[in-house]
Amino acid sequence: MSTVVKGDAGAAVIEHPLRALWSRQRRYRGRFRAAVLASTINKIADVAPEILIGVAIDVVVRGQDSWAASLLGVESRYAQLAWLAAINVVVWIIESLSEYVAAVLWRGLSQGVEHDLRVEAYDHAQHLDLGWHEARPRGTTLATLNDDVNQLERFLDIGVPAILQTILNVLLVGLVFAAASMQLTLLAFLPIPLIIAGSLLFQRRLEPLYVRVRSAVADLSGALQANLAGIATIKAFTAEERERERIEQVSGAYRRANEAAIRSSAAFVPLVRVAILAGFTCTLLFGGWAALNGTIEVGLYSVLVFMTQRLLWPLTDVAEVLDLYQRGRASTARILGLLNEPIEVPQGDRSLAKPVAGRVEIEQVRAGYADGPDVLHGIDMVVPAGETHAIVGSTGAGKSSLLRLILRFDDPRGGRVLLDGVDVRDLDWDSLRGSMGYVAQDIYLFAGTIAENIAYGRPNATREQIIAAARAAAAADFIEVLPGAYDATVGENGVTLSGGQRQRIALARALLREPAVLVLDEATSAVDNETEAAIQKSLRRAGERCTTIVVAHRLSTVRHAHRIWVLDGGRVTEAGTHDELVAAGGSYAALWAVQTGEPEPERASV
Ligand code: UTP
Ligand code: MG
Repeated sequence: MSTVVKGDAGAAVIEHPLRALWSRQRRYRGRFRAAVLASTINKIADVAPEILIGVAIDVVVRGQDSWAASLLGVESRYAQLAWLAAINVVVWIIESLSEYVAAVLWRGLSQGVEHDLRVEAYDHAQHLDLGWHEARPRGTTLATLNDDVNQLERFLDIGVPAILQTILNVLLVGLVFAAASMQLTLLAFLPIPLIIAGSLLFQRRLEPLYVRVRSAVADLSGALQANLAGIATIKAFTAEERERERIEQVSGAYRRANEAAIRSSAAFVPLVRVAILAGFTCTLLFGGWAALNGTIEVGLYSVLVFMTQRLLWPLTDVAEVLDLYQRGRASTARILGLLNEPIEVPQGDRSLAKPVAGRVEIEQVRAGYADGPDVLHGIDMVVPAGETHAIVGSTGAGKSSLLRLILRFDDPRGGRVLLDGVDVRDLDWDSLRGSMGYVAQDIYLFAGTIAENIAYGRPNATREQIIAAARAAAAADFIEVLPGAYDATVGENGVTLSGGQRQRIALARALLREPAVLVLDEATSAVDNETEAAIQKSLRRAGERCTTIVVAHRLSTVRHAHRIWVLDGGRVTEAGTHDELVAAGGSYAALWAVQTGEPEPERASV
């Protein structure tokens, strides 16, 4: 089992990533074993021709006394050679076939693991709470889902078969050597412990380097993603030069991390070569002497010389394989780290009886972000089912934070939030978020048509329902004149909509859901007064069916609410109807006076 420790960045660190991967991807084990088998057959067939060369030389040199003669029971040299040729053809066919099968199996295995892990990691990421996503650059998560998964695929496709080949090589060649002469085996294998020791040493040196490479990739991807998202701001502030330098720096850090890793892994190759040369020279010299003395046959000598070549030269690839291994390991650690991130806001298991009435209660709620101080200090609020309540207050007062708690994007630090009398922590997502229509303060439209965007929360809505929702959100008029109308594409690479138009599409999206609770965070802040009045009218109509909680700065938006809650510094300072609050002459009254341009009663008298 893998052990999970919390790293300094707060991300889970996996001790034995590849072992953890093995115990996790159970369904690929069968395919893995089949691939290992195919590679093994391939390797055996691959080594066989060298042995056949030796046997052929032996036939020519020793004739009737050759191994082939005793093995095949054929006396004529010509017939023996013909047999060898036939065997060679069979071996060649087996080699080619097994090579094909092995390639297909390894490729299929790596692609399958890549696909599964990517989808699984994405799904896990989307279930992680909003706070988790907000706490790190989006590009970092993107790098894991993209680059790291690709890196792992490369390792499985190229690295693992290469490791296997090397091991099989050593084993098979070792067997042939051992059968021939123990003394020569020792000589030829002399370099191997050296190479293994060197590999382990290098691996230890390389590991931190590749961890650094992977995190540099994540930084780079994060910076690029953030810059592309903020391209308008970069242009508006003519910050191109500065940003180019910044990206150059981040990219440079990636390059340096990679260079450091490559410098180390490249130094390994010459070391291996020296060791190989020693082994090869020993076989050449001492094997030759042994053949001259008649201790070993000429055929065997030639096999041994070929074999040493075959044994030792592929070991130069060990460095490259080690490189792939370390990269694969670092990437696997990041992917599994993401998969091991605990879901801090898991859904409950209670469901509400439908239709949900929509009574929202907030009891003594304290809340804050990450390790920061509280931004809400003991909020008490009741919104009876079917009523429209407004939350107003200066910027930063905690209005959006309060709405997030109702949708349970975060859990409160103290107190509780209830929907129809049930703590939202106990509800499943369908009962809780399924009964909500939410328009966030910053609107997000998906790449797709207007109709798809409006129907996002109710994918099987009919065209009539979509149009009705668009009408209610006062969006129908501008949609109808767009080229393609409801089928016009918006979002990334689509038509660009104005802020107010986007807001109205988001509002239509929320209304189409016919939610029990409509939660609007500055949903009409960007539309003109006239449009807002139209929206108000349809909202009041929709509001007859559902509970509405609306946050707004423009007080004309909220004056008809059943109750208005004034928030200041994370506390409710006033509450009541518009008329009550104006009459009370508190901060709401002051704000109302400013917005309507009427002299404030109190100050006017001063
Ligand atoms: P809010 O975002 O709840 O304020 O932030 P608000 O009332 O809706 O403000 P406007 O009207 O939209 O501008 C309340 C406090 O929580 C902090 C903010 O810094 C603010 O002081 N906050 C908000 C965080 O610390 N992290 C966040 O992700 C969001
Ligand atoms: Mg806000």
